Amino acid sequence: MCGIIGYIGKKQALPILINGLRRLEYRGYDSAGVAVSDGKKFTKIKAVGKIEKLAEKLKPLDLNGSVGIAHTRWATHGGVTEANAHPHSACADDLVIAHNGIIENYRELKEKFLKGHELKSETDTEILAHLIEVFYKGNLTEAVRTALKEVRGTYGLAAMHSDEPDKLVAARFGSPLVIGVGDGEYFLASDTSPMLAHTKEVIFLDDGEIAEISLSGLKISSLDSKNITKYSETIDWDEASAQKQGYEHFMLKEIFDQPAVFKDAIRGRYNLTEGTAHLGGLNMTSEQMHSVSRVILLACGTASYAALVGKYALERLAGIPTEVDVGSEFRYRDPIIDRNTLVFGITQSGETADTLAALREAKRKGAFVRGIVNVIGSTLARETDGGTYMHAGPELAVASTKAYTNMVAVLILYAIQFGRLNRLTQATGERLIAALLEIPTKMKEVLAQSERIKTIAEKYKDSVGMLFLGRGINYPVALEGSHKLKEISYIHSEAYPAGEMKHGANALLGPHFPVVAIMTKNQLYEKMRSSVEEVRARKSPLILIATVGDESARELADDVIYVPPTMELLEPLLNTIPLQLFAYHTAVALGRDVDRPRNLAKSVTVE
Ligand code: F6R
Repeated sequence: MCGIIGYIGKKQALPILINGLRRLEYRGYDSAGVAVSDGKKFTKIKAVGKIEKLAEKLKPLDLNGSVGIAHTRWATHGGVTEANAHPHSACADDLVIAHNGIIENYRELKEKFLKGHELKSETDTEILAHLIEVFYKGNLTEAVRTALKEVRGTYGLAAMHSDEPDKLVAARFGSPLVIGVGDGEYFLASDTSPMLAHTKEVIFLDDGEIAEISLSGLKISSLDSKNITKYSETIDWDEASAQKQGYEHFMLKEIFDQPAVFKDAIRGRYNLTEGTAHLGGLNMTSEQMHSVSRVILLACGTASYAALVGKYALERLAGIPTEVDVGSEFRYRDPIIDRNTLVFGITQSGETADTLAALREAKRKGAFVRGIVNVIGSTLARETDGGTYMHAGPELAVASTKAYTNMVAVLILYAIQFGRLNRLTQATGERLIAALLEIPTKMKEVLAQSERIKTIAEKYKDSVGMLFLGRGINYPVALEGSHKLKEISYIHSEAYPAGEMKHGANALLGPHFPVVAIMTKNQLYEKMRSSVEEVRARKSPLILIATVGDESARELADDVIYVPPTMELLEPLLNTIPLQLFAYHTAVALGRDVDRPRNLAKSVTVE
């Protein structure tokens, strides 16, 4: 994600930039930087860590100037270091840029245009800075335009040049940028949250637009130099809601982020025509991959339920026996591991103490140890010999939602990649990839039902307990649905594989005890339906997750939430979303502190 803020006006830029970064911190917070112009030269200061680290570093300095840009980073390209933090310059220090997005053809650009340029960071952004430097002939707007014509990828870009000290240049393609129009001043940011303290008049840049912002006015043009007239609009958000982009809570925003971040998880990692996936970070030769005879997935909480989906996928597609273990158990039970065991640590934060300790144990015993991690440069990412970032962006609500989805996405890609080495046919691989590409649109269809799910949640909010049922690939979905409900609404709930009910849990059923069952159309549909009928017979209120078109579900259930059909192994990517929304709306209806539930922390760094 990352956040950009820029200012040009008559006031001191620095306090506006730093306060703006604080507002944008939710977009990323592993490092930050600022560049301010005093009319002659830039001073550029960067720091690793949260915005407050940068603010502390700036305190003793007397940075004067009324033009500047700043950036808060969430690493996607290159580790979390000061050198990789933005703003970036090129060979000379007269140009600075801050950038969100990904320059996909950065290698080509480097080879074609940057012979003799010395790079100081590992970022794709620095390549863009050098490219603008190559094309600079006294007009920054034109240099940016020429450079961007060579670029493939996404960008929200802010640039300044010390030869044109009263000018900011911005450009957008795929990564949002907003210009705030003040009284004799302009603001530039990734979203409206940092400018609301100053102005509510904004202009949203569209893809392919370049803005030249100076004290004498604002000029917007297209990449091919056509002038564009745009009018400002007035926004009525307050600062707090803008940070959550209008959502009431971070959790809801993150649930709604899922279609977009899912695309980030799979982008560039599949090959549709060959029906395969390629996760380059695995760092294993094909010989080593063929030698894997067992996989162990280590995780805690929600990550362990994503891991269970991974187990089904790896066993079914790749035929590799796969176990899931929670970190706190694995570390103390002297696990049996050999050199043909591949162990993945799966974690959003990359800092969960139990997962880390379990992984270290596996490493000691000689396994291949890899990570599936969200936070770039986190401890687990650093301690493993390879792995994959899930690209869910910063997740701020304690209850994990979008990271879960992206963990599942990455595990399915691994199952396809290992599957294509042995028993998975190209045709099935192709079908799986094609079905994965349809997931974001289908997720949106589920999300569109949020208000109806709210009505259902309000109906059951006073229950003393609930049961979640699933079978096969939907058993982990039931576990995750139950986990979400208990952690944010504090209603006791349990999840069962539906076939196990007769061995004990049936005794709980009755009119006081609602059951949520996932009964989508897959190979276990008939079996699941029999279990649901038993629940009905025992008079428990029944909420069904069913496949669009299954009208018979309405006859069975008190409430039905429909999800679009997909391939069975991909069902968790859709079926979990109504359960996230159900937990969320229940917790809101009960007045819980949804983003910060009692007794829980986002990152559990202690045993
Ligand atoms: C659930 C939740 C926790 C985490 C668990 C692992 O919503 O937030 O159960 O899933 O603490 O955290 P990570 O993924 O950071 O290792």
